[in-house]
Amino acid sequence: MNETEKYVSEICALDVKKAVFSLAAKDSDYKKATVRKISENAFQIERFTSKQAFHENFPAEMLEEKVNSLFPKEFSQAEFFTGEYVYGAKYTKKGALLHNRRKNGSPAAKNGELTHNRVKKHIIDVENMPPVFKELGIMTGDGKIINSKYDKFKQICRFTELINDEVAKDPKETFNIIDFGCGKSYLSFVIYYYFSEILGKKVNITGLDLKKDVIDNCSALAEKYGYNGMNFVCCDIKDYTAKEKPDMVIALHACDTATDIAIARAIDWGAEYIFAAPCCQKEARKMIKPKNFGIITDYGIINERFCAMITDTLRAKLIEYSGYSCDITEFIDMEHSPKNLLLRAKKKISADRYKKAKILSQIQGIKDEFGIDITLSKLLLNK
Ligand SMILES: C[S@@+](CC[C@H](N)C(=O)[O-])C[C@H]1O[C@@H](n2cnc3c(N)ncnc32)[C@H](O)[C@@H]1O
Repeated sequence: MNETEKYVSEICALDVKKAVFSLAAKDSDYKKATVRKISENAFQIERFTSKQAFHENFPAEMLEEKVNSLFPKEFSQAEFFTGEYVYGAKYTKKGALLHNRRKNGSPAAKNGELTHNRVKKHIIDVENMPPVFKELGIMTGDGKIINSKYDKFKQICRFTELINDEVAKDPKETFNIIDFGCGKSYLSFVIYYYFSEILGKKVNITGLDLKKDVIDNCSALAEKYGYNGMNFVCCDIKDYTAKEKPDMVIALHACDTATDIAIARAIDWGAEYIFAAPCCQKEARKMIKPKNFGIITDYGIINERFCAMITDTLRAKLIEYSGYSCDITEFIDMEHSPKNLLLRAKKKISADRYKKAKILSQIQGIKDEFGIDITLSKLLLNK
């Protein structure tokens, strides 16, 4: 028995309830694996590719054998959770075994940190999804993500994490949020759960969509699960009147110019936060007529991507013009959605006059060169 096998043997003799394996070998098909005790006599391995999860149940007496097959052959980092301690182990590139132990429930354990390494903590993961997700058709009855919904699941988790980066330190006790083009409202439900259950804040979320059937379904689910702060309205987002000032506006893949309308409404209301991941962007493609750079329209895919990029750049600039700080981030890997940019904005205390003038001239420059003048520009500047 080598040193690592001896370590695994000692760990498996403890009352291990769960283990997490990460830092996959380059040739592994999997990105991560977990082992969970599912009964007195059985464990389950869950292996994750970037899109799917695979499960295998095995008897408790095979724990050591299974752990040896995962660590360090397939994964070079492992954490073993007993009731009292978390045992962290790492097999280095030079073939050394590093390991430590900390109290389970210590701040480091809660944050998933090893003293010599750091495991990313997800705000929302498969194990703590709200129960409504089973009825929304994103999870199976036994709590697994349905394969065809895995990309959407990743999108809403990352979207929520990026919201968390902004609001976790906000002392406000109540948040009013509007989800523009909510569709089946996976995002609204997960954000409701995040604010109410994880942050322990009061949250009112209004989901808006044109489709009556999805709105009726979302309303029925919110009622069934007692989510009193959720409310769904069937309407065109341009016609919606907010009863209370929204603190945050979110829009995940609201079609074409619906994103512009959502942003304009958010700015008109003075919402403090805006999170918008745009969808298809057809508008600029109908307008583009380059004066000097006709080469851009020679290839369909280049033209399409250029129009999408210029649209989002103009949106970000218009948001900044309106007194917000704004950045554009890739909120999810391309494999989970090609529509993977997120405009993330926060209202500033005061606007910078010089900056406003510069932005107006930049917007005019784009109009002069490419003939592009997006809906958001018309909504904000031609009042
Ligand atoms: C691509 S789906 C995205 C749904 C959801 N946000 C998600 O990511 O799963 C876009 C949704 O926006 C809605 N939508 C588009 N234009 C709208 C408008 N003007 N007013 C309200 N809803 C709109 C559509 O009905 C559709 O449900």
